[in-house]
Amino acid sequence: MNILLLGSGGREHALAWKIAQSPRLTKLFIAPGNPGTASVGINLPIAADDFNSIKNAVIENNIHIVLVGPEDPLVKGVTNFFADDAELKHVTVVGPDKVGAQLEGSKDFSKQFMMRHNIPTAGYMSVNAQNFEEGIEFLKKLEAPYVLKADGLAAGKGVLIINDIEEAKAELKSMIDGKFGAASQTVVIEEFLSGIECSVFVITDGKNYKILPEAKDYKRIGEGDKGLNTGGMGAVSPVPFATSDFMKKVEDRIIRPTIEGLFSEGITYKGFIFFGLIKVNGEPFTIEYNARMGDPETEVVMLRLKSDFVDLLEGVAQGNLNEKQVEFDERSAVTVMLVSGGYPEDYDKGKVISGLDKTENSIVFHAGTKQQDNQIVTNGGRVIAVSSYGNSKDEALATSFKNAQLIDFEKKYFRNDIGFDL
Ligand code: AMP
Ligand code: GLY
Repeated sequence: MNILLLGSGGREHALAWKIAQSPRLTKLFIAPGNPGTASVGINLPIAADDFNSIKNAVIENNIHIVLVGPEDPLVKGVTNFFADDAELKHVTVVGPDKVGAQLEGSKDFSKQFMMRHNIPTAGYMSVNAQNFEEGIEFLKKLEAPYVLKADGLAAGKGVLIINDIEEAKAELKSMIDGKFGAASQTVVIEEFLSGIECSVFVITDGKNYKILPEAKDYKRIGEGDKGLNTGGMGAVSPVPFATSDFMKKVEDRIIRPTIEGLFSEGITYKGFIFFGLIKVNGEPFTIEYNARMGDPETEVVMLRLKSDFVDLLEGVAQGNLNEKQVEFDERSAVTVMLVSGGYPEDYDKGKVISGLDKTENSIVFHAGTKQQDNQIVTNGGRVIAVSSYGNSKDEALATSFKNAQLIDFEKKYFRNDIGFDL
């Protein structure tokens, strides 16, 4: 079994690390990968959305499965590209096609889907230039705070939560007028839900599914979850408030209706669904879907997945995921992101990273790093995900924090409070 993994972040290093442990694997390639993935597979200098070069690499290396890390190639149609090409038809892409990827790529699509299948979510209205006045009326009926979401992908910046109604009205106008370009020509206005959030990950072959370990990520740059939104500053699994009672409700009311809904609508969905959930008075609501695994959640989910991951990927390819076993590691897993000072705004690149060889008992996943001559240098906002096991969350965190101190680069920053609220 030869596998090609697309992407280059911490999520991809974690996926590559897990895949490389499988006895079913012959060769693992990553395009384009990073210095971390190069330690467990073969990096190919191909961008994750350069479909023609990916095709050549797949044929040349006799690839059986292409696993897509980030959303971008999915929304751009990498799965359709493979399905439509006679030379590539035998290859399974683990990741939905363009239509399935709309669960993430369009908030309006995902809200309509949830409504059709009675999946609990916040009340909403989709607004564009044509029904703007009705949108204002809908806003007025809601209570503060007001939630405005750009319909399309906006690099994680497209959700605004606003306390003042006048400001919300003005933002609605500015979004529709192009604040986030075409992504906000349609805006989803949502009722605000107050509760605690966690994420649940599912792998599906389109009919059968397996639930992977849940996780909680820490989205904001500052401690106490303050400041600007980031891709994620750390993650913890398991999540204590995701009790078996809660998870049963999630499966019955959200996961199963989603998989059955996709199937009944003729959307062939092979891949991952990331359910962004909120627990409100004990009940689960869906905040969002993503058509991929989370980053940095994957850096803890892969640690807690005991089963052979390649066996699961084969289950997706063969459509017999129901015959596969998923076992979780009972230990806690955490990850702490080391980021470049200034992130998520402007930051420097090319800073030498030291101390990678000094860490003990953590699994150090590379995110935004690059090999330069004999050194590893920073190459992104999120640089390194320091991941650890522990018999408790606190034990795992102590290990990650200790190693987070040992790794260094100019203007390194990390949050010291990951997992403290749990
Ligand atoms: P999304 O991109 O839809 O996940 O939204 C980003 C973040 O905004 C979520 O993780 C929540 O913290 C928050 N959020 C989104 N929708 C709502 C809502 N309806 N009520 C409360 N918070 C929300
Ligand atoms: N950590 C959130 C995400 O991957 O979207």
